[in-house]
Amino acid sequence: MIVLGIETSCDETAAAIIQDGEILSSVVSTHWLHNSYGGVVPELASRAHLVLLPPILDQAIDESGISLEAIDAVAVTRGPGLIGALLVGIAAAKAIAFARNIPVIGVNHLEGHLWSAVFESSDLKPPFLALLVSGGHTMLVDVEEFGKYRIIGQTRDDAAGEAFDKVAVLCGLGYPGGAQIEKRARTGDSAYYEFPIGMHGQRGYDFSFSGLKTAVATFLRKNPEAKHDHLADLLCCFQEAAVASLIEPTCRALRQSNYQALVISGGVAANLRLRQRLGEEAERVGVRFLYPGLQLCTDNAIMIAWVGWKRLLKGQKDGLEMSGEANFPLPGILK
Ligand code: KG4
Ligand code: ZN
Repeated sequence: MIVLGIETSCDETAAAIIQDGEILSSVVSTHWLHNSYGGVVPELASRAHLVLLPPILDQAIDESGISLEAIDAVAVTRGPGLIGALLVGIAAAKAIAFARNIPVIGVNHLEGHLWSAVFESSDLKPPFLALLVSGGHTMLVDVEEFGKYRIIGQTRDDAAGEAFDKVAVLCGLGYPGGAQIEKRARTGDSAYYEFPIGMHGQRGYDFSFSGLKTAVATFLRKNPEAKHDHLADLLCCFQEAAVASLIEPTCRALRQSNYQALVISGGVAANLRLRQRLGEEAERVGVRFLYPGLQLCTDNAIMIAWVGWKRLLKGQKDGLEMSGEANFPLPGILK
């Protein structure tokens, strides 16, 4: 079965084609135009999707080596995300589905991230514990099976990626800043300063990043020269605290349950320091540690096409009345 995936939930316009779970093509275009604004400007994102999506769809079809006529279904991100941005992808998906008389499937963006490691580890089988860390979400999900999820912990304030992005803006690095911070932190001294670890010593599996973000802002206000004289050290210490804020609740969950595997996903899962530290902890607890390839951590349409394909195999699809949902909860949430 050949599925076309479309992703336009935020600031990446993406299209991909998969055949029976194998990737035929994938095209992603990131909107760097938000860089100077310090965050995504929703109206600019919608307009960029409008301009970029048609040529990206053409390119995905060209590179896949199949024709538009060979596609069996269209999967598209339905939410969560920026509503104007979502609607551009959904309108395109519906137009193709209507013209070709094939099914359209609205996919939850977070569910796409949850399964994105399957392309790196084809033997990925539930149940597993998933740490989803992106620019908009930070959560621990107990994945019982495809379509059955239990959120056991989530951030009480900022998402992890949001904290990276805000600190990057504070340091004059522009948006999005996660990858920039990681690059600069490599040469930094982790003993330079101790930033607070969110939810340190608490119980449960929730996360918190606003205290850490405020601590960096306060430090910079008191030590403005650090931005120039000790940027690498400052970013290294921030990254260590951010990684520790993700690791503590995750390890509590791993120790208190009988998970066989820990899977990370989302843009922040591209962070090599996070991967290294989580890998060490997983080994200590005796749990398999899995993660997506770097291109599949940040937003892409492969993960959307894959979830759409799985839903189709289960006989699930949507009608042309399907619309975008800015706050679209994960499907199949268990209490
Ligand atoms: O999953 P994603 O592409 O979009 C959302 O669904 O939110 O994640 C984007 C987030 C941004 O906050 C970006 O700064 C962060 O992922 N990110 C990173 C790294 N690469 C991207 N954060 C830390 N280290 C990285 N290497
Ligand atoms: Zn995402």
